[in-house]
Amino acid sequence: MAKNHLIGLLLSTEEDWPSAFEALIREFSPTISYGGEDHTFSTERITYEPFDLRAVPRHSIVIERLSHWYSLPREWLKKIALMNDVYLLNNPFTFQAMEKHAAYCALLRLGLKVPETWMIPHRLPPEDERFPETSRRYNLPFDLREVAEKIGYPLFMKPFDGGAWVGVTKVSNPEELMARYAESGPRLMHLQKAVDFDVFARSLSIGAETMVVRFEPDRPMFDRYQVSHGFLEPQIGAEVVTIGRLVNAYFRWEFNSCETLVADSEVFPIDYANASPDLAITSLHYYFPWAIRTLAKWCIFCTVTGRRMRLHQDVARYNELADRPDLSYEEKLAGYRGLTEEYFETERYEEFCAEYLPEIDEAMVRFISSPAFDAILVETVIATFPPHEHERFIAHYRGLLGAWVMDQS
Ligand SMILES: Nc1ncnc2c1ncn2[C@@H]1O[C@H](COP(=O)(O)OP(=O)(O)OP(=O)(O)O)[C@@H](O)[C@H]1O
Ligand SMILES: [Mg+2]
Repeated sequence: MAKNHLIGLLLSTEEDWPSAFEALIREFSPTISYGGEDHTFSTERITYEPFDLRAVPRHSIVIERLSHWYSLPREWLKKIALMNDVYLLNNPFTFQAMEKHAAYCALLRLGLKVPETWMIPHRLPPEDERFPETSRRYNLPFDLREVAEKIGYPLFMKPFDGGAWVGVTKVSNPEELMARYAESGPRLMHLQKAVDFDVFARSLSIGAETMVVRFEPDRPMFDRYQVSHGFLEPQIGAEVVTIGRLVNAYFRWEFNSCETLVADSEVFPIDYANASPDLAITSLHYYFPWAIRTLAKWCIFCTVTGRRMRLHQDVARYNELADRPDLSYEEKLAGYRGLTEEYFETERYEEFCAEYLPEIDEAMVRFISSPAFDAILVETVIATFPPHEHERFIAHYRGLLGAWVMDQS
């Protein structure tokens, strides 16, 4: 009898990628003979309800998308990780670091080129009856303009734990600085030196694979990811991939996006803690099939080979490399790359995919060319854009996905 691996999807409101993922697993439907057993796969959307802490879950792996804001499923995830060894993408025990601040600190320690960054006290302090007295004793007066002077203009003011560009502003002079600070209210902020970049590279990593895409942050959402191949020198491209994987291996994230700015052949990481990376067809378009297929491959690899999720970090190994004065930046990067390959079992994953999943690429092309996928695409456009734009955007996305299909042959 085959062993079936149930892939749980813990979702919020998104419909596009889950439908595509479910369809791929259903249509492709591989049976893999591995370790003397046949393995099959199915998916299920997880519902939120009372649960017995002793209950045994049926899932082998869970792709989770909302536990960063909804504690009921987050606590269920912790239970199934601690008690039942269920594999999680991502593991909520690492979430304390799933904000910009901890990720900046980690990469600074590792010697990466994080732009000059300061944390500044809240404009409006926490509402707590103990605060006035605490503040009277310990909060030092400070001159925000002096801090900004040290960093230099232009700079960005942004929430220490932010996402989705909320509260992020560019500041070019002391007047703007004070106005933006007044607006920041109760939000704890960083000031960060602006990088005058040539190329913005946004990479999405899923398990052992990474896709680096040219990104245009100032364009409308549908036009930010650019279809562009070979836009980075190979060496810079490799550095961008290494940084994305390093962040993930370090924090034990397996599903995350990483933003790096390239200026004069130097790579500056600016944002790389995205617990629930953007997977929308309307953002990723051409790169969407890669993401869904890679998610399926990684889930299959982890469940079939019995890869164990690591609950906790092992930062000492990274820090040992970071602290070696005899190593250059390039040598450290090469060392980190080795650690990430070890963590993600890159070689074993590649061999596994070549041996057991040689048809998955073709299955993805068939699916993306099918009426079933087109229906998902049309539904997504209708749900995302106003009626007068439907026709235009359906044609736009069909064109991009069609180009992907062409490029695969
Ligand atoms: N140091 C910087 N130099 C240049 N541009 C920056 C810098 N920091 C932020 N930006 C710009 O501001 C945007 C938003 O900043 P950031 O990515 O840090 O915030 P976010 O809230 O995580 O945004 P998102 O969720 O869209 O990624 C970036 O995509 C980039 O265009
Ligand atoms: Mg960002």
